[in-house]
Amino acid sequence: MDWVHDRKVLPLPGATFGRLIEIDDAETFTSAVEGAPDVLPALLCEAGGLLVLKGMGAISGHPEILVRLSHPFGSEVEDYALTSNRHNLLHPASTRIIRISNRPPMNFEPPEPPNPPRTEDGELPVRFPHRRGWHTDQSFRRPPPDISLFYAHEPAPRDQGQTLYADGTGAWERLDDDLAAIAENLVGIHVAPFKGHGEDDVRDGREPHALNERDGPQPQPVVRVHPVSGRKALYLCEREQMDWIHGPFAGMEPGVHGEAAQLLYRLMHHFTQPALTYAHHWDQGDLVIYDNRCTIHSATWFDAAKHNRDMWRTTVWGNPGPFYEGESRSWEGDAVRG
Ligand SMILES: [Fe+2]
Repeated sequence: MDWVHDRKVLPLPGATFGRLIEIDDAETFTSAVEGAPDVLPALLCEAGGLLVLKGMGAISGHPEILVRLSHPFGSEVEDYALTSNRHNLLHPASTRIIRISNRPPMNFEPPEPPNPPRTEDGELPVRFPHRRGWHTDQSFRRPPPDISLFYAHEPAPRDQGQTLYADGTGAWERLDDDLAAIAENLVGIHVAPFKGHGEDDVRDGREPHALNERDGPQPQPVVRVHPVSGRKALYLCEREQMDWIHGPFAGMEPGVHGEAAQLLYRLMHHFTQPALTYAHHWDQGDLVIYDNRCTIHSATWFDAAKHNRDMWRTTVWGNPGPFYEGESRSWEGDAVRG
């Protein structure tokens, strides 16, 4: 494919992983991807699970392009009409797209800014626990989704509403031997956010919500073997997407003051070190494709009183790896009926 060979695939500035692809014409590009459907997923894998595509603004007028581009990444593009608890997020043109937006009817509020808002060097904070909200999509389900495609229909101003990504493969490879030996056999307990099982809720003694089968909690390995690259990667969330009532780790003292909590802080601090992170400052028409099996990400604050932000996302399932082989989906069918 000429877009691969004519120098339009570039290293991603500011990152030790990921690739940047400059697109001239989103329609032509999408047809080329469909004509050779293995190429873009292979590139994502080579890039360590992160691709930034510039120039995909045609998706705004033709949302189906986003769904078409999602199909090569797995056997099934999620239909959120069947899986989402929040039908107000569905895109009017396709139930395979959800809108993450502060606009009504989505009313998705941005996270709080970190405190302090900048590092001592004046940089955007990325590292846990200064930066909070690191997660991988839908880790509260088994099997979890493989890939997400995230499109900026209407981004916040460039210096706000960034998305941060961290490299789970690099994080595993840089883990010291003692911590690696612990992490290798560790199981995290993941839960849907904002259900009263998060760290702050437990710390403040709030009553947990009733969970349904879509919300977890679900156990997940802390170290996953990527089914395509064969490389190990850390797989972990924090704050809202770990279950601090039953976890954050199975078989260890639960809660916010226990041994498991201390271990999670150590692992997440390591995972989100600046050398392993990338901050994406969004332009309209950007599309970021990320592999949830080997990266985590975090949203940042924007001034929702002054600005709107409207981001469109698809999620793709199909190849979680041998660890999940033969499992029914935790949120439907036999797995739920028992
Ligand atoms: Fe996410």
